Amino acid sequence: MENINILINKSRIEKRLDEMAKEIEKDYEGKDIVFLGILKGSMPFMWELAKRIKNNVIFEFIEVSSYEGTESTKKITMHKDIKNSIQGKDVIIIEDIVDTGRTLSFLSEHLKEKKPNSLKIATLLSKPSRRIIELNVDYIGFKIEDKFVVGYGLDYNQDFRNLPYIGYIE
Ligand code: IMP
Ligand code: MG
Repeated sequence: MENINILINKSRIEKRLDEMAKEIEKDYEGKDIVFLGILKGSMPFMWELAKRIKNNVIFEFIEVSSYEGTESTKKITMHKDIKNSIQGKDVIIIEDIVDTGRTLSFLSEHLKEKKPNSLKIATLLSKPSRRIIELNVDYIGFKIEDKFVVGYGLDYNQDFRNLPYIGYIE
């Protein structure tokens, strides 16, 4: 098994999630929020963030992929679209990590056609130095340098998603 080093430990993640939840509560006072999770990597982040928020949070999922191994392929494939209407709803896209920005710019365009009342983006991690497409990310957990990370939902060829911290492979 690969040697994994801890980049962000569990208690730092939890502290940051508390802060992000407060910020979202403040921005969405009295409103229901649709959390639109991008499968599969956003799952732990989505739940851990949602359970800290007092608003009613509705869960929806979409599945896309853009990655093979550690190399970003340019094509984005949608495997599962949302079933329920998000028209007129306040939607936050929940992502594990923003890397080149391709996935989210593709998804934002796709989702805008479904006419939500508002559409924002929350990501656990962001690698700003890797950005190819500029896009506005509303809530960012941690900005990290250009390292391939795993854990807390993030995988390397489907492995390591269940690590309770964010690590990088040596
Ligand atoms: P983007 O379209 O280049 O922004 O890529 C976003 C997707 O690539 C994320 O949803 C992840 O699934 C994957 N990804 C990017 N960087 C990493 C990483 O360091 N570890 C694991 N997955 C990553
Ligand atoms: Mg992903």
